[in-house]
Amino acid sequence: MRVAVLGANGQIGQHIVKLLEADEQHDVVALVRKETQISQLTEQGINACLVDLTQEVAQIKNALEGVDAVIFSAGSGGDTDGDMTLRIDLDGAVKAMEAAELAGVKRFVQVSALQAHNREFWHPDITPYYIAKHYADRELMRSDLQYTIVRPGLLTNDDATGKVTSGSNIETGEIPRADVAKVIVELLDKPNAVGKAFDLVSGDTPISQAVQTL
Ligand SMILES: NC(=O)c1ccc[n+]([C@@H]2O[C@H](COP(=O)([O-])OP(=O)(O)OC[C@H]3O[C@@H](n4cnc5c(N)ncnc54)[C@H](OP(=O)(O)O)[C@@H]3O)[C@@H](O)[C@H]2O)c1
Repeated sequence: MRVAVLGANGQIGQHIVKLLEADEQHDVVALVRKETQISQLTEQGINACLVDLTQEVAQIKNALEGVDAVIFSAGSGGDTDGDMTLRIDLDGAVKAMEAAELAGVKRFVQVSALQAHNREFWHPDITPYYIAKHYADRELMRSDLQYTIVRPGLLTNDDATGKVTSGSNIETGEIPRADVAKVIVELLDKPNAVGKAFDLVSGDTPISQAVQTL
């Protein structure tokens, strides 16, 4: 399976790229937005391509030709304003979905946020972020793409534990980025993961078992 990672230079994205590179069943295309990132990846032997989510859908589509699956792990980050939240976390995600469909990509895995499906949960300080995630997820569910939506809790840079808890309504929790990446790579080609959206935090269930029972 040829897998394109949007946000490949991000903290989860880098874990995903490493895991896919190490897995003989997958070819990875790291999609990044700076020339310097391309040369760093190419030096490591990683296939990389320039994509900025503020670009036109047609340009994003060009980067997705020949790809079987897209992982969207991009994000505008906590230090940007509401405008970039709309442009990247909402419109960027939806443009990536449109581009994937135009390029004939079937599979799309979206990194969302814990409880993005549940308005009652949204913290007032970051409501625009949740709105962006919520409607991006809804667009993906309305699309013809074979989607999986992963809604992780507060992300940490702790080492992977290999164990998680997933569910339809987990109210709070955190999880290492390394474990989120492992879950995503594990579920990528599992038919039972298609059409699923779930909250994800650290827990006691081995990742392979958690993915089997999605
Ligand atoms: N922080 C949390 O606790 C939390 C919780 C749940 C979910 N999430 C979500 O998890 C995802 C990944 O998180 P993370 O910690 O890995 O984030 P991150 O390190 O900030 O990575 C985000 C990536 O998106 C890229 N990006 C930003 N604007 C872009 C654009 N215009 N075009 C293309 N790429 C662009 C960034 O590129 P550069 O490297 O060039 O800057 C970066 O590589 C995000 O969607 C985030 O919203 C976060």
